[in-house]
Formats: sequence, structure tokens, C-alpha cells
Amino acid sequence: MNSSFRIGVVGSGKGSNFVALADAIAAGKIPAEIAVVLSDVESAGILAHARDRKIPAQFIPPGKFRTKLDEEAERAFVSALQSAKVDLIVLAGFMRVLKGDFLRAFAGHIVNIHPSLLPSFPGLEAWKQALDHGVKVTGCTVHFVDAGVDAGPIIAQQTVPVFENDTPESLHRRIHAAEHELYPQCVVALARGEISVAGRRVIWKKSQTCSNPYIFT
Ligand code: GRF
Repeated sequence: MNSSFRIGVVGSGKGSNFVALADAIAAGKIPAEIAVVLSDVESAGILAHARDRKIPAQFIPPGKFRTKLDEEAERAFVSALQSAKVDLIVLAGFMRVLKGDFLRAFAGHIVNIHPSLLPSFPGLEAWKQALDHGVKVTGCTVHFVDAGVDAGPIIAQQTVPVFENDTPESLHRRIHAAEHELYPQCVVALARGEISVAGRRVIWKKSQTCSNPYIFT
């Protein structure tokens, strides 16, 4: 397996998307390795899952702000990712908005997954926003990260139906399951260099997975 494509995973939460990615790599489905896992939350499940898998995992204190990293923390994140020589940064439940120097250091090499069909329902608790709005279909989106909130070019989306008896929890569970399928498929394409960007449009050079590579149903 070609393991020269190095991934840094950054998250704040329980790390189920990290687990899906690590499992897909371990199963030989993604020609890549996870070089480092970073978190702004010392007790985050994502760090424990990484350590269980013997993947270098580091807590970096986020500093004085609630929704972004302060300058010192930003420098520490950038330096840890540069030392690990990562080709791609996979945000997996990272609860802070990335700013200037971080984005500049890895421009075009940061991706995120969001639990709605963007541009609908950016921001927090997107599954609850979708349920409250009354949409019949929602889903998840993998996108490049830019300076906006959940706003960068869209790589792929997977749809999830909303049922009449859904609660926020049941819908969130269904979206999470879709994320665990979609994110590894996108990372495969990124690791193989099969994805390019023209303005806001992301082009898949070829698809191993389905005839319309942008939408997974
Ligand atoms: C996911 O729902 C993702 O869409 C959002 O944060 C959540 C992370 O979940 N950005 P997990 O930590 O991967 O389980």
C-alpha cells in the first residue's frame, strides 16, 4: 500500500468519523496514513481512539477564546501539523472556526464534514435546524474549508430522509451513519489525487464508487 499520503485529523468530540477513517485505512481502502490526531479538548474521545490505535495524538489548549484558537494555540496546531508533514487536514467534529494563519498554512488542503446538505443549515446542531425547518430530506456534506463558516467548495453530499416520527437524536444518528460512509469515500479520492477545484466547483476526475460522484444516496 502507498502510505506516502499523510493525514492529520483534528477534532473536539467523540471521534466516530475518525474511527470510520482509521478503519477504512486499516482495511486497505484508503492509500494513506493518519500521521497525527490533534484536539482542543483534553478528554475528547477522538484522542482516546487514536491512542488505542497507536496513532500519535496530542491535546493542544485552545487559549482564551470560545469559538476560535488564540494566536499561540493556532501556532501550536500549525506547527504540530507541519512537523507531522501532513498532505491533508481532515476536520472531524472540530468545534472552532479556523482563521488566517492556519488557513494560509494549508490552503486548499483542509476538509470538513457538516451534518446537513449545505448551503442549508450551516452552524451548530444542523440536524435540529433541518428538523425544525420541516425539510423532508437532509444529509451531510464534505467540503473544503475556507474563511467562512461551513462555506467552502462542496466535494460531495449524501442524502438522509427525515421521517415524521424523527427526534433530533434519531435524525442525528442517521446522519452520523451517512457521514461514516461519505467521509472515507471522499478521502480516498483526495488521497488518489482525483479531485480538483475550479472556483466553487469541485471536479472528481473519476469515480470508483458511483455514476454521480457528487451525490451519494
Ligand atoms: C459530526 O456530526 C460532523 O458532521 C460534525 O461534528 C460531528 C463529529 O462527530 N462536524 P464525531 O466526533 O466524528 O463522532
